[in-house]
Amino acid sequence: MLKDKVAVIYGAGGAIGGAVARAFASEGARLFLTGRRLEPVEAVVKDVAAGGGTAEAAAVDALDEQAVGRHLRSVVDKAGRVDISLDAIGIPDAKLLGVPLVELDVERFSLPIATYTRSYLLTARLAARHMVPNRSGVIMTVTALHSRTGIPLVGGFGPAMAAKEALTRGLSAELAPQGIRVVGLRPQAMPETGTIREAFEPRARASGMSWEQWQELLAGRTHTRRLMTLDELANVAAFMASDKASGMTGTTVNLTMGSLDD
Ligand SMILES: NC(=O)c1ccc[n+]([C@@H]2O[C@H](COP(=O)([O-])OP(=O)(O)OC[C@H]3O[C@@H](n4cnc5c(N)ncnc54)[C@H](OP(=O)(O)O)[C@@H]3O)[C@@H](O)[C@H]2O)c1
Repeated sequence: MLKDKVAVIYGAGGAIGGAVARAFASEGARLFLTGRRLEPVEAVVKDVAAGGGTAEAAAVDALDEQAVGRHLRSVVDKAGRVDISLDAIGIPDAKLLGVPLVELDVERFSLPIATYTRSYLLTARLAARHMVPNRSGVIMTVTALHSRTGIPLVGGFGPAMAAKEALTRGLSAELAPQGIRVVGLRPQAMPETGTIREAFEPRARASGMSWEQWQELLAGRTHTRRLMTLDELANVAAFMASDKASGMTGTTVNLTMGSLDD
């Protein structure tokens, strides 16, 4: 589905970024993988290479406009263009969760809103500048169901996710007339990721639930009565990035398996 497409992933050393990188590679994409720290990104590059794929690693802070711009120019120098940009960065949940909104320090409230919208805007618009001359490209990001439903003790995370989904619509409204699609992915919690375990801790303290009980609670809200896997998310991401999804833009795919009605 992605034969010869040039894809850049931000946060590629993370659970979602890494899984999507492997799926993109298995569909034939040439990958430029980035993260704040090089080491976890290099581990994903090794995995991709072991599977016969092509990937390069770079340390790029997705909040630094100059660094993202320099990296994209180097991608275009090497590969001739950029076809796909995915912002999959995540900041540690311990910095965000577990404090009621009425008591939450305003800096801690604002952190996810500023961080997630900044990285998405910067990575999207810098990629778009390279895509517009080709009248082709796909810009993607990841959100969570907190964008659309009230969940206690998540601070500014819900507003951050809602803002990213609004930005997906705004970017699409401006860029789709120039041939660029902008789409988001909104997965349900995937328990195999460290992120979800970390997100569980503050709630466990508040409610006295075990890790197993918490997973059961979340799974019970889905129609399938189970939580999704990283591979399932990555397969949808590969489809969304491909020309087979040419009819989709300005939208966020609801991957909550029935937990959240559209
Ligand atoms: N995991 C889930 O089940 C799930 C479900 C729904 C939504 N989400 C959302 O999806 C996103 C990714 O989740 P994840 O589970 O893959 O998180 P993760 O495993 O913690 O990965 C996040 C990655 O982002 C990188 N990163 C953070 N700040 C960065 C920056 N400024 N520049 C470049 N890279 C940066 C981190 O690198 P360093 O470690 O080097 O900082 C890390 O490799 C998050 O927004 C999360 O809330 C996750």
